[in-house]
Amino acid sequence: MTHHPRAHLSDPAPDLTRPITTDCLAVVGLQWGDEGKGKVIDRVSPRYDAVVRYNGGANAGHSVVFDGKRHALHLVPSGIFSERTRAVIGPGVCVDPFSLIDELERLAAAGVNVSNLVLSDRAHLVMPYHKQEDASREARLDEPDQQGKSGASQGAIGTTRRGIGPAYAEKAMRAAAVRTGDLLRPEVLRERLRIACDFKKRGNTLIDAPPESLDADRLFDQLSAIAPKLQPHLDDTTYLLHTMLRDGKPLLFEGANATLLDVDHGTFPFVTSSSTTALGISSGAGVPGRCLGQTLGIVKAYSTRVGAGPMPTELKDDTGERIRKNGNEFGTTTGRPRRCGWLDLVAVRYASMLNGTTGLAIMLLDVLAGLDELKVCVAYEIDTLRTDRFPPDAYDLVRAKPIYETLPGFAEDITAARSLDDLPAAARTYLDFIEGYVGVPIRFVSIGPDREQSIEVGGAM
Ligand code: IMO
Ligand code: MG
Repeated sequence: MTHHPRAHLSDPAPDLTRPITTDCLAVVGLQWGDEGKGKVIDRVSPRYDAVVRYNGGANAGHSVVFDGKRHALHLVPSGIFSERTRAVIGPGVCVDPFSLIDELERLAAAGVNVSNLVLSDRAHLVMPYHKQEDASREARLDEPDQQGKSGASQGAIGTTRRGIGPAYAEKAMRAAAVRTGDLLRPEVLRERLRIACDFKKRGNTLIDAPPESLDADRLFDQLSAIAPKLQPHLDDTTYLLHTMLRDGKPLLFEGANATLLDVDHGTFPFVTSSSTTALGISSGAGVPGRCLGQTLGIVKAYSTRVGAGPMPTELKDDTGERIRKNGNEFGTTTGRPRRCGWLDLVAVRYASMLNGTTGLAIMLLDVLAGLDELKVCVAYEIDTLRTDRFPPDAYDLVRAKPIYETLPGFAEDITAARSLDDLPAAARTYLDFIEGYVGVPIRFVSIGPDREQSIEVGGAM
């Protein structure tokens, strides 16, 4: 294993008397994920000097389609396809190093230049034992004696089994956590793995896996073998991003997962383990929030959710099935069928408020073509009380009954539209209703998976 060159230590720190740019853009999901963040980011990333992931891990699945090809991304930022843009994985991301190398090799084989990828040397590593623990905990929660005691908060979470929860827990517990930079510090790596395996073998952790999965020497050898592949990408991304901000270079922050899965503000406990909103950008990327000029909230034209947890507008009928089929609503990461339902504007407005969005992107509008009528949830009834507030705790949300407004449907195929004027009147009414309810302007409408099937509204983003 080679040692880190620490080349960046000889670069001067940025001059703090120069102002930072406030032209940065945040792109975040306002629902339960899979809103189409990857598509929007791919489309606008050539205008930014870096696209920065700040949260989550390989639980995310972002797909980007252009030139007739579909690329699935999990850890690599969706800006990787723009030659002039750096693709940065910040310190707040939990990185599965094997999965990242896999992804880089797949992209390179598809002819994508991945030399622009920069990986923070402070990001935490997801280890094989974290994935095993994730799976073991889920299996235990699925056992009958764990379920049904109080309704809302029992049963498995329905995780992606990518080890996200255990890796973030390890980070918070500190002593046995391994970071990307440790790949270049063999003595630290060896020591941390020894402690981690020792702790886990003493039985504090639920892991149903063969003993070699907690063999520290074996893990050390595996990581040492892949370290040289990640070394060229490792850097201090915090100084890198601050230098860019002082040089007036705007950054784009790519949210992974989505607002209603946020560990603090989402539908707990059916959430992921990171700060998925724009609020997480500061800590996850290491930049001040005031660099953000715009925050774009990505909204699917209907609702989907993968995994367990309450979803007030879920449709368990033919309409739900039809949306799933039209929208090809199967997970990018796990292939699971997504639960589908009407657009929940109570949830979207809550998410928009939390993120402080300055614009909305309405995605997959084309999927709704052919439905006779379109319903949107404008309030809930909870224990006979009508409310337009979103109660994020799963215990309350599971009792929320949606109150709908019904809007006319549109029959036309809209995938060739390139401006709002090309859309049928009913589609425009639908968009106007969303904008009016949320109180934030629509800046982007997607009417098909391809990069070109996009309508930008109201100037540059
Ligand atoms: P993108 O970035 C949809 C969901 C999982 C599960 C819960 C917890 O593609 O929008 P985890 O593995 O994170 O511990 O799982 O969160 N989940 C997502 N659902 N899109 C995602 O990401 C998701 N990331 C996590 O399905 O319910
Ligand atoms: Mg996805």
